[in-house]
Amino acid sequence: MPKSTRRQVLLAAAPVVAAAPLAKLALARATEAAPRPAHAGMAMDATKHAAMIGREVPAPGRRGDLAALLYPPKSLRHKPGRVREYTLAAIDRQIEVAKGVFFSAWTYNGTVPGPVIRATEDDLLRVNFTNAGSHPHTIHFHGIHPANMDGVFEVVEPGASFTYEFPARPYGMHLYHCHSTPLKKHIAKGLYGAFIIDPPTPRPPAQELVMVLTGFDTDGDGANNFYGVNGPAFYYAKHPIRVRRSQTVRIYLANLTEFDLLNSLHLHGDFFRYYPTGSSNHFEYTDTVMLCQGQRGIIEIDFAHSGRFMFHAHQSEFTELGWMGFFEVID
Ligand code: CU
Ligand code: CU
Repeated sequence: MPKSTRRQVLLAAAPVVAAAPLAKLALARATEAAPRPAHAGMAMDATKHAAMIGREVPAPGRRGDLAALLYPPKSLRHKPGRVREYTLAAIDRQIEVAKGVFFSAWTYNGTVPGPVIRATEDDLLRVNFTNAGSHPHTIHFHGIHPANMDGVFEVVEPGASFTYEFPARPYGMHLYHCHSTPLKKHIAKGLYGAFIIDPPTPRPPAQELVMVLTGFDTDGDGANNFYGVNGPAFYYAKHPIRVRRSQTVRIYLANLTEFDLLNSLHLHGDFFRYYPTGSSNHFEYTDTVMLCQGQRGIIEIDFAHSGRFMFHAHQSEFTELGWMGFFEVID
């Protein structure tokens, strides 16, 4: 199908779901393609802007619904011999990825992304995995571990279980995902999540957030129709993330979108330190980072100003299909 597929889906979806804001958005997008006088364009942009920023933002879910995915468990000091134990189950589940648009997902514990897994370097990580879904799955962790803990050859059939156990290494921002074949499908369906390993000496206190970049191919044509952070489209545009100006904001960021070669994060109104993979003190001072699938890092923002600041993919098409949000920076 030609590149117009995603727009057609939006247009097609709008009447079906009868979601007025989405219809408005689709209308705005459809009008974009038509030639128009320069000044009329300004008016159209203003309308679209209003539709995406006000109360009408077409995001599913209520404030706080994604809190468990946004706010990671607390970091712990290094302690020899400690065990960090998690229980994950693969579950087939319909999730609402845009207002009124449902996606037949394969999930870890019912959400896309799955739960945040966190350990301190040298903790013994134990993940009890049960496949309660309808297809064979695994959990493949990024990081250092023995070959038989890699989640590639030990395929877990529906109804079966497997325990992954290894010392968490090296410190940084990592990820986990299913590695069953076809791999593309198991990731696109939603089997992935953030995996944080803290350094032995914890990072300085900060307002910590996790952002996993998601994409959803709702019509099964091999291209994403919606994008988001920690799941649904436009969620953090409807529910801005409140942070204090006085303390560093630390974001554990990972890109898990399938099909698109690249994704990105761009922050308005400020610069940040970006630590690739979070595995050293090396950082870049920038306002935009680019990530291929599996690429991740840690962002640290010291907001200079209070107010409402946008963050979004710098692929504009992704932004308009849901990958946008706001920080509400308070004094
Ligand atoms: Cu799988
Ligand atoms: Cu991977």
